[in-house]
Amino acid sequence: MEELKIDSLQAEYKVYIDNSFEEFKTYIYECYGRYSKKIFIVTDDRVASFHKNIIDYFRKDLTAKVFTIKNGEESKNYDTISDVYKFLTDNGADRDSLLIAFGGGVVGDLTGFAAATYMRGIGFINIPTTLMSQVDSSIGGKVGYNHNGIKNIIGAFYNPEAVYISTHFLKTLEKQELLDGLGEILKYGLIRNEALLDFIESNYSSILSLEEDSLIYVVKECLSIKAETIAEDYKDIGFRNILNFGHTIGHGIEIDSNYTITHGISVALGMLAALKLSEEKLQLPPQIYSRIENLYIKLGIPIRYKVDNFASFLYAIKHDKKNSDGIRFVLLEDIGLCRIKVVVSEKDILSALQRSICNVK
Ligand SMILES: NC(=O)c1ccc[n+]([C@@H]2O[C@H](COP(=O)([O-])OP(=O)(O)OC[C@H]3O[C@@H](n4cnc5c(N)ncnc54)[C@H](O)[C@@H]3O)[C@@H](O)[C@H]2O)c1
Repeated sequence: MEELKIDSLQAEYKVYIDNSFEEFKTYIYECYGRYSKKIFIVTDDRVASFHKNIIDYFRKDLTAKVFTIKNGEESKNYDTISDVYKFLTDNGADRDSLLIAFGGGVVGDLTGFAAATYMRGIGFINIPTTLMSQVDSSIGGKVGYNHNGIKNIIGAFYNPEAVYISTHFLKTLEKQELLDGLGEILKYGLIRNEALLDFIESNYSSILSLEEDSLIYVVKECLSIKAETIAEDYKDIGFRNILNFGHTIGHGIEIDSNYTITHGISVALGMLAALKLSEEKLQLPPQIYSRIENLYIKLGIPIRYKVDNFASFLYAIKHDKKNSDGIRFVLLEDIGLCRIKVVVSEKDILSALQRSICNVK
């Protein structure tokens, strides 16, 4: 089992990474179950149907109550949070209770927010089950939900007490969901670590066929980069912005497509547009775009997105909450060298979109 220590302003916690869940069962029982803490689990219907044995373990060994939400981004809203609060109050959750997220980024973000706000904060642990949540969303403290069509506009910073990552769970993912995670993995390579990009170029088929050593390597590399970044700027005032590479246009694509294009793929497409903007604004060598586009083609990540209405697409981008005035982007001067808060005009965005992922009408 691998361990990674996360230091943030508010807390220190550990991420445990393994290719099975067996050892974690004992750990979790020893840390929490043994003390008869009241334990509450939030999962989604897909995860619960694929991993019934784990749900049984929660129910029987941890005597936990389990609440199941409908899977997908559409659930990431206040109604679901309200249902979680009701589940907690109906079952007598108190200040000493523990809330466990068992699922992908949606379950993790929602459950973390519920843990942050229920009785002004109760214990929280995260068991991420998608590649996306294992390489990215399970650490960093950002929890929240979407509101009025704006991604993650309501939220808090709240850390888990521990994160248990088992790559075993990835075996039940669809290829599409693996690609979602790969979008974020490539982001980490681009913003911070060319060796990670090289590794994916040489080992993409072993990652797609879920070879355990490759998976554990990429999970650990990505989380180490994220850990370093949040240790420097937990509240996302400056340096942490680099994690948003590809996200400004990516969030626009998620909203514009009514979430039919998933987060990771949207970010991957957003990165292509951001690479073109980087060429225009920061003289990024054009070979990098070709290198990444080729890698997308090999992996099966789309390289095109159709924008029907540029005005509403731009609206979605502008309402990305990270843009306080003007449209600010994280761009690249080179692989591993980011520039944050680069102000970009609508004309520049249109031109970059036309020269990268779409034919704008
Ligand atoms: N908090 C952060 O720092 C952060 C960072 C990145 C992304 N996010 C958020 O994460 C979300 C995306 O995460 P995601 O891609 O995990 O989405 P998700 O949680 O919607 O999961 C994707 C799909 O996979 C299914 N699934 C989950 N685990 C499975 C498993 N082991 N086997 C089979 N199916 C499984 C889910 O039921 C769902 O249908 C977005 O809401 C995004 O905003 C948050």
